[in-house]
Amino acid sequence: METMDAKSYITGVFDRAAQTYDKVDVDFFLPMAKELVRRADLKPTDDVLDVGCGRGAALVEAAKTARTVVGTDLAPTMVELTKKDAPANATVRIGDAEEPDFPDRSFDVVTANLVIFFLPDPAKALRNYARILRPGGRVVFNSFAAEDERFAKAVEAMAKFTGYERPPRNPVFDTPESLLELLTGNGFEGRVEELAFESRLKDPEQWLEWMWTHGGRALLEAVPEETMPEACAAAFAEIEKARGPRGDLVLTTRMRFTTGTLATRRTT
Ligand SMILES: C[S@@+](CC[C@H](N)C(=O)[O-])C[C@H]1O[C@@H](n2cnc3c(N)ncnc32)[C@H](O)[C@@H]1O
Repeated sequence: METMDAKSYITGVFDRAAQTYDKVDVDFFLPMAKELVRRADLKPTDDVLDVGCGRGAALVEAAKTARTVVGTDLAPTMVELTKKDAPANATVRIGDAEEPDFPDRSFDVVTANLVIFFLPDPAKALRNYARILRPGGRVVFNSFAAEDERFAKAVEAMAKFTGYERPPRNPVFDTPESLLELLTGNGFEGRVEELAFESRLKDPEQWLEWMWTHGGRALLEAVPEETMPEACAAAFAEIEKARGPRGDLVLTTRMRFTTGTLATRRTT
């Protein structure tokens, strides 16, 4: 897929998900956003850019401490809805996370919660963040270390009913070392740390409902309507196998948090 096609396809999926995004009572995006913002170590004098802001999980959290927060996203419905809920010190607008169109040295911090791996060229994004950050500026982003294999099997079971293929993972997200290289090769120094998050689900139906509300929607949209019941049954059978001894369903996601500081004080 061409770069622009890939971007408009991904943001189209999120645009269609925007009305229900993070609204089905599954704790997934917010705990990660809170952890990300905590790692940004914000000061009341900081101006923050939150790229791929979605429905504002990190933006709202950052606005509690920062002086100002600008949220950008390429999905118009995300922008429209988040604008309505935004705190007084936050603004939201359409913008590409890879190519933020702000003057040099506009921000103290750039945050990206569950976004950077969607970008065709994350290195280019980081070089742009280095440009728009002031001296001493920071960037914090997260990416998947490992998904919950039991739930991945449910996704695979459903994918058999479609021609859908997940876009290949950019190897830069494969290891802490490759992430560190991504940082240091593009103007930052920093660290990478791994953490696990647990999301409780009531039942397989809630998993399905949740899938429609985020990037997983891309898979569901590819299932032909006539085979949807069969595809759901196959996925649910896998999810049933993931139940714990008390019948509980817990999705465990291992995330890597990458925190960078501008490597050198620029003189230009
Ligand atoms: C998984 S959601 C995360 C949203 C939000 N940061 C959160 O934590 O809930 C990914 C978001 O990135 C946006 N996105 C994907 N590619 C983008 C790009 N190139 N520029 C701006 N936003 C993008 C999507 O539209 C979506 O809102």
